[in-house]
Amino acid sequence: MGCQYFEPTDNGANSFTVAMPKLTFGRGSLAEVGERAKALGFKKVVLFTDAMLESGPIVEIVRQSLKQQSIEFSIFSDIRIEPDDDCVMEAASMLKDAGSDGIISVGGGSVIDTAKGALLVAQHGGHIRDYFAAPIGSGKPVPGPVLPHIACATTSGTGSECTSITVIRINELDTKFVVASPHLLATQAIVDPQCCDSLPGNVVASTGFDLLCHALECYTARAYTKHLEVKDPNARQLIQGSNPFSDLSAQKALEIAGEYLVRGVADNSDREARDNLMWGATLAGIAFGNSGTHLPHAMSYGITHLMKDITTDGYPVSSPFIPHGISVIVSAPAIFNYTADAAPERHLEGAAFLSADAKGATKDEAGEVLSKRLIELMRETHIPNGLSGVGFDQSHVKALAESSFRQQRAIANAPRDSILVDLENMYNGALSYW
Ligand SMILES: [Fe+2]
Repeated sequence: MGCQYFEPTDNGANSFTVAMPKLTFGRGSLAEVGERAKALGFKKVVLFTDAMLESGPIVEIVRQSLKQQSIEFSIFSDIRIEPDDDCVMEAASMLKDAGSDGIISVGGGSVIDTAKGALLVAQHGGHIRDYFAAPIGSGKPVPGPVLPHIACATTSGTGSECTSITVIRINELDTKFVVASPHLLATQAIVDPQCCDSLPGNVVASTGFDLLCHALECYTARAYTKHLEVKDPNARQLIQGSNPFSDLSAQKALEIAGEYLVRGVADNSDREARDNLMWGATLAGIAFGNSGTHLPHAMSYGITHLMKDITTDGYPVSSPFIPHGISVIVSAPAIFNYTADAAPERHLEGAAFLSADAKGATKDEAGEVLSKRLIELMRETHIPNGLSGVGFDQSHVKALAESSFRQQRAIANAPRDSILVDLENMYNGALSYW
């Protein structure tokens, strides 16, 4: 492409692929799920959700919609926040026994990711660990399609309804890893903003920073032309680096986060802000589903791996627990300050999309301008003050860096190379900001 950031390189990719599910967005759209399932030929489905949603009004809408279309369904709801490999294997076993011709998932990232993992194992066998990249797993490629899947998002952050990845905690290693394959992309996604009407402000803050970081990491990711060309076009992953398509949705998602995040957190009844954040989360999901995240997500995994005795108000989860969006944003200002050197224009543009005052800023100031804007947004939405705000101090930095350094695929998608000591330096810079 004739854009400086996507300049051709020796042995680099010269094309990119775009994929996303058929998407329906809008208030009331969840009630269409039965008709959509019927049109896909579903007669019998497994409905994936979590225990809290199962007894609430959102899943009731889905139940009624399926009943109206005479679609038989069974429910799998034993899904915890941050699902693990045991949960996926249990879900896969249930799905295999159910003999369904499709699935519907209704929930946040934990539910949708469990559904994707269960579809994979139920269809192609083995253990979910087989599909993680070596040395964590066996690096087995996903060999082909899985059952059709209608993914219905109930939070304004994950974007998982639009991506080809699933994030699963491996109990034995006590950390999360990613399985990515275009075959894991849902057949259809339904995003109904009314699902978020009752979410408390602190949940919207966490999911909002997840969406913000998805978009900002995509926009600043290594260009697809700087990733090695994949000779077999069918083996090309959608995690392929930033590209002109992911730029479009990432830019809009950042503008939405800059305009509506503080409003959506401050006022549960601000429907304009909440609806826009849901749209922003969808756009950010489409962006990172076609480009991939980088260091803020990679370095969040060390944080959730090593968290101890930490609780977070507003979540029905026992300690230790840090919401995903918070585990990502607490290091982000320090990380973008580091990565800005490799792509200063992109970092300045990202800051401007987030409504920062970037006028007249030089390339040398790009990292500072962007991290300052992120810190402003964190303070305005009552996010913990960096790593110290979620229970870590300087003595934990080395272990955090060693844990996160295993996330090589995401680290390689950053615009700037980093070795172990660079991760330590970034974590040190993230200890506190104010
Ligand atoms: Fe995320």
